[in-house]
Amino acid sequence: MQTLITDSPREAADFINRGQIVAFPTETVYGLGADITNDEAVQRIFQAKGRPGDNPLIVHVYSPKEVEKVAASIPETARKLMDRFFPGPLTLVLCKQSRISPLVTAGLPTVGVRCPQHPVTRAFLRECRHPVAAPSANLSGKPSSTDWKSVHEDLNGKINCILRGEQSAIGLESTIVDCATEPPRLLRAGAISLDELRAIVPGLLGPAAIEEHSQPKSPGLKYPHYAPLAEIRLCGEGHGRCEGGEKTAWIGLSHPPEDAAVTCRCADAGEYAHRLFRFFRECDREKIGIIFCEMPPPEGIGQALRDRLQRAAEEK
Ligand code: TXA
Ligand code: MG
Repeated sequence: MQTLITDSPREAADFINRGQIVAFPTETVYGLGADITNDEAVQRIFQAKGRPGDNPLIVHVYSPKEVEKVAASIPETARKLMDRFFPGPLTLVLCKQSRISPLVTAGLPTVGVRCPQHPVTRAFLRECRHPVAAPSANLSGKPSSTDWKSVHEDLNGKINCILRGEQSAIGLESTIVDCATEPPRLLRAGAISLDELRAIVPGLLGPAAIEEHSQPKSPGLKYPHYAPLAEIRLCGEGHGRCEGGEKTAWIGLSHPPEDAAVTCRCADAGEYAHRLFRFFRECDREKIGIIFCEMPPPEGIGQALRDRLQRAAEEK
């Protein structure tokens, strides 16, 4: 299959409207989308990514009003979060309308809904006739794609179109909150922190302990994630030193070790998040054996970064 690369949101949306699958930029990471009303197209997303069928997809809507088209009901807490954070890097899990295909939700009674804020994403979603189901646009298990070249590296020849945009500003996937239960619970950390969520919904629960992930509320949490080929070793406070290994790389906020072959020193946690997944891919191209990742402080997006780094380190 030929993968067309375009800068035109309308041309990309035309592919979706013809039942094909398209990668598109968002402020978090790139998504791989299909029309939620087209089961065949949704099925092709799973094939292209090699994604397990029991891992549900997030439904992307153009405007907050469209949440009503997919959710059976919107609890008061969800409304408050939508008023504050939609459009933005937040996904809400809500009871689904019965007409939403079980392929999209992997048979769950709930649906994850997100209203992205990036202008190119919005222009694209506006041109699509229906909401767009989309996981991150990477091969299953690999780091999410934060630029179109990473999408191309993983999915060229497997998808119909790539809507080319800039590198994703945030660089980590959206914060996910389960609003189908009371009180709501944080399922995945992201750019919107627990503190920011609690400023709107004070009783909101933190993420479940890692042990619960074998029976996770968010099915995706039980699968390997964010893993480059290189081994990930965490370092910095409470972890080991960045030492040892043959061809090593380093990413963090302080000072890189002198013998690291590839380094990425970031000014703050925001820049660290922005650059992390692309750095992982660069390390694989450079055939790095070990990537030392300095743990950032657990504040703001630092929480989400720590979560991704821990999961990436669990893999090998
Ligand atoms: O920022 C993002 O969220 C990106 C962009 C493209 O929007 N998308 C993304 O999708 O990260 P994905 O498929 O890589 O991760 C979605 C996560 C998975 O862990 C999945 O299990 C969970 O969301 N999820 C989706 N629907 C759910 C539901 N109804 N209940 C619980 N978890 C759900
Ligand atoms: Mg993903």
